[in-house]
Amino acid sequence: MIFVTGGAGFIGSNFVVDWLHREGAAIDEPVLVLDALTYAGNLANLASVRAHPGLQFARQDICDSAAVLALLRRHRPRAVVHFAAESHVDRSILGPGEFVRTNIEGTFSLLEAARAYHGERTGSERDAFRFLHVSTDEVYGSLEEHEPAFTETTRYAPNSPYAASKAASDHLVRAYFHTYGLPVVTTNCSNNYGPFQFPEKLIPLMIANALQGRSLPVYGDGQNVRDWLYVGDHCRGIRRVLEAGRPGETYNIGGRNEVRNIDVVRRICAMLDELRPDGGGSYARHITYIKDRPGHDRRYAIDCTKIERELGWKPAESFETGLRKTIAWYLDHADWVAEVTSGKYRAWVALQYGDAASAFQG
Ligand code: NAD
Ligand code: DAU
Repeated sequence: MIFVTGGAGFIGSNFVVDWLHREGAAIDEPVLVLDALTYAGNLANLASVRAHPGLQFARQDICDSAAVLALLRRHRPRAVVHFAAESHVDRSILGPGEFVRTNIEGTFSLLEAARAYHGERTGSERDAFRFLHVSTDEVYGSLEEHEPAFTETTRYAPNSPYAASKAASDHLVRAYFHTYGLPVVTTNCSNNYGPFQFPEKLIPLMIANALQGRSLPVYGDGQNVRDWLYVGDHCRGIRRVLEAGRPGETYNIGGRNEVRNIDVVRRICAMLDELRPDGGGSYARHITYIKDRPGHDRRYAIDCTKIERELGWKPAESFETGLRKTIAWYLDHADWVAEVTSGKYRAWVALQYGDAASAFQG
């Protein structure tokens, strides 16, 4: 068995579905998803594998170390793949406390449980165990236009409470390898996009708003750059690191695909114009520049030479093919969007976008 924390969130659920459907999947190796089901966790994300004999679910806060240790002892997994986190930068600016709790204290609690569990194992079971920590490129801070992309040795320089909390968790994970010999591997990935991403993040927010004839809010001058990777490519990279990554190492994962935010939004509008034309004209007419995000990182770029060279991983999707798949998925899953954006989501939009939010309320 493997444990997947945060397996009902965006990347975690894609990982679980891909894991259960992957070629050569062992039907006798189930996945136990541990997820607290916050606003970002949704069991509907796992609907396609709900009846799969390999899926088990525990509603579990990772901060409860004793409960996690009891699950580890009961199920004896060969690996913990750790996705669970508070993941949205804007939310971390408005309320950093929850990020400190889940991302730092939660990772600490999980590490403590894993350390105790690993210490009780012997022989090949002990040797085979892995703790894979899923992290982000945001720990490296912001790049100027002509600076080289982040490598695994780039100095940590987190700028948002989210990035700082992830950086702290990375350091704890590293320390558990060096101090206690826990066999950890860490991945630092760039911006993901694809099915089941909560519509608070740039790409699904723009698709959802465009389809509802609402404003498309671009922060600042829209020239900030992100390195976009299709979620399926990220999940394949994580599987590869779990399979062959060296304990104690970190691996950067990225798309070699830098795009300015305004160009992302324009491409979404152009694809929607083609796939779901709006009688009123191009969706681009809804683009609105709004107040910048405080401390907004200018540019992220990942140098993924290490994982390419050592583990033979490469992204399969281009931004063009990945974005097309993503938009098609959102067009086909209006019910999912409606479900996850009901209730508290409207309160979030009002808080985050202030005056500009009136354009969201239809
Ligand atoms: P998400 O917000 O969509 O999902 C997070 C999941 O964690 C949810 O299912 C939520 O219910 C669960 N969770 C939150 N707090 C919990 C707790 N205390 N105990 C148990 N479960 C809890 O996040 P995501 O975008 O899927 O990101 C997953 C991981 O990948 C995160 O660690 C994030 O830092 C990292 N990451 C994300 C991106 C990206 O572009 N989204 C890129 C690189 C790395
Ligand atoms: O780089 C990896 C990180 O990517 C992950 O670790 C985070 O979990 C994930 O949320 C993401 O962080 P970003 O802050 O880069 O993603 P977000 O989708 O929030 O924003 C992408 C860019 O778009 C960023 O420059 C801010 C901008 N933006 C975002 C929103 C929500 C806008 O211009 N308008 C918006 O309304």
